[in-house]
Amino acid sequence: MTGDDAAARLRAAGSVFAEDEATLIREAADGDDARLEAMLARRIAGDPLEQVVGWVAFAGLRIPVAPGMFVPRRRTELVARLASAAAPPDGVVVDLCCGVGAIAVAVAAARPDVTVVAADVDPAAVALAAASLAPYRASSLVSDVDAALRHLDGTVDVLAACPPYVPTAAIPLMPREARDHEPRRALDGGPDGARLQRAVLAASSRLLRPGGTVVVETSEALIGLTAEAAADEGLVVRVERDEELGAVVVVGRR
Ligand SMILES: C[S@@+](CC[C@H](N)C(=O)[O-])C[C@H]1O[C@@H](n2cnc3c(N)ncnc32)[C@H](O)[C@@H]1O
Repeated sequence: MTGDDAAARLRAAGSVFAEDEATLIREAADGDDARLEAMLARRIAGDPLEQVVGWVAFAGLRIPVAPGMFVPRRRTELVARLASAAAPPDGVVVDLCCGVGAIAVAVAAARPDVTVVAADVDPAAVALAAASLAPYRASSLVSDVDAALRHLDGTVDVLAACPPYVPTAAIPLMPREARDHEPRRALDGGPDGARLQRAVLAASSRLLRPGGTVVVETSEALIGLTAEAAADEGLVVRVERDEELGAVVVVGRR
């Protein structure tokens, strides 16, 4: 099959970036025609491109992802950037609700001096994060946010998180790629969307050393609730945005 054939099939299936997608899928198939056909079929059936090719571009890196896993979003690069900037020399940075580890890997790559620890409740996601973090001064573990990393209480310099923050009632309004191909647990932020954000901010109260920083991704719709939850934990709160990425983040200093 030629690249034009692949692009034409993707275009006919509704892909807006058919040529780019065909190029990425052909690269991932690596000359194996049967694999190429299987990958095209999955993409045409609606699987997210990143799950088909097995990686997502994030902060200039290729982060491995797999079918059925949450695909890290470009906007979350703002969390990684702020966490890297806030970490003191040789500090400790935690990525809570790490998924496949995009924030953790980006921080570890940008700041080889810091120690990165990543945790998530999903064992399959943590297994991928562990593989991606292997080249770095970093570790990962399976843990619920409430119980996470008690051995680090009072020692963490930066707690970074992109927890689920879609209100339960808004999940049916999400794009199909998210609704049908990403775990519900990775999307659902509870009735008002902020349940996991509150849990992360509560964890920051025990994990952070005095003067430490928590960086939590949120949405424009939720920002009041997120900032209020951070203030309730006694943090000094500010809001950071990146218009180009469409990102909004609450930063709290202990
Ligand atoms: C929106 S995804 C983001 C993943 C990752 N931070 C990223 O940006 O790619 C949210 C993640 O939170 C995790 N999660 C949900 N509930 C959790 C809990 N109670 N404790 C720990 N992790 C949780 C999910 O498994 C999922 O990986």
